[in-house]
Amino acid sequence: MMSDETDHRVKAVVWRNDKLSLLDQRLLPEKELYIEIDSVDQAADAISSMVVRGAPAIGVTAAYAIVLAARSRFMDDPEQWKVLLQEDLDMLAVARPTAVNLRWAISRMHSCIKHITGNPEDVLLTEAKAIHQEDIDANVKMGLLGVQYLEPQSQVLTHCNAGALATGGYGTALGVVRAGYRAGKIQNVYADETRPWLQGARLTAWELAKEGIPVTLIPDSAAAYLMKQKHFDWVIVGADRIAVNGDVANKIGTYSLAVNARHHGVRFMVVAPTSTVDMEMRSGAEIPIETRDESEVLTMAGRNLSPAGVTALNPVFDVTPAELVDVIVTEKGVVERPQTGSLTKLFEP
Ligand code: MRU
Repeated sequence: MMSDETDHRVKAVVWRNDKLSLLDQRLLPEKELYIEIDSVDQAADAISSMVVRGAPAIGVTAAYAIVLAARSRFMDDPEQWKVLLQEDLDMLAVARPTAVNLRWAISRMHSCIKHITGNPEDVLLTEAKAIHQEDIDANVKMGLLGVQYLEPQSQVLTHCNAGALATGGYGTALGVVRAGYRAGKIQNVYADETRPWLQGARLTAWELAKEGIPVTLIPDSAAAYLMKQKHFDWVIVGADRIAVNGDVANKIGTYSLAVNARHHGVRFMVVAPTSTVDMEMRSGAEIPIETRDESEVLTMAGRNLSPAGVTALNPVFDVTPAELVDVIVTEKGVVERPQTGSLTKLFEP
């Protein structure tokens, strides 16, 4: 569906020459460099070290990584490859804890593996490509659904990077931004810098600028003040995991934006495919929140930001309670003011 929308644009994850290629997002915007990945260990390392990031992009990467893993295990032992592969799946599953798309993709590939007889590579590659394409299609669909909520001349604030770089292509929150901009409904896009990895400053700004969509950066700490000045109509973000009651885990700082948005009458939209909804989490309190190394806060580009001996806390996601969310947009439909039960209907046949 509408793949020409996305064909020529930013690609974070590419399957070429029988290998996985990942755009190294740690180097953007200075360098556009693809890393070739030809083993599942390299893929897990690329996910943990943020070469590739963003929940759906991590899921797509894991799917291709399983193709590489199965190829190698089948070559080693054509009889026992499925048993041996389990170790690879377990290792991949813990590469990052919060983005449920990782486990979702592994479990979908696992269901496929169960039915394979003979050499698994072609079947698994077809499944991985399907996961990839379905994610792009879902994003384009969500873009169209989300844009219906925007009035002409809307001012939009986004956080982190929920764009083509974070997905199979096109983006979730930035999919709505792309569609809104093309429909002439968005006057200005603002992006939080998103400390400490600066996904907003480095990645969102890069991919929007590359496409000619003007973007204005703001320090994370300026959001509340600017909301008070009536700068934004909508905050639009992605998600790493959504619980059954509509609580949303996303990049650290999302929760503060949601609290501030409600206080200032700014509406709050979450855009995420149903692969990000975890029906096993009753509420956000059950979602595992990743904490990363303190050096990510204490240093920047190899330079110390603080005196020696200072410690830092680095939780990289937070949970926004459902009551602060105005609308969740998925490819299967939208849920306004989510609460327990309202997301379940998206999964009904
Ligand atoms: O730590 P990151 O960069 O992987 O965090 C990414 C986010 O928080 C995104 O908002 C989320 O994964 C949705 S991406 C469509």
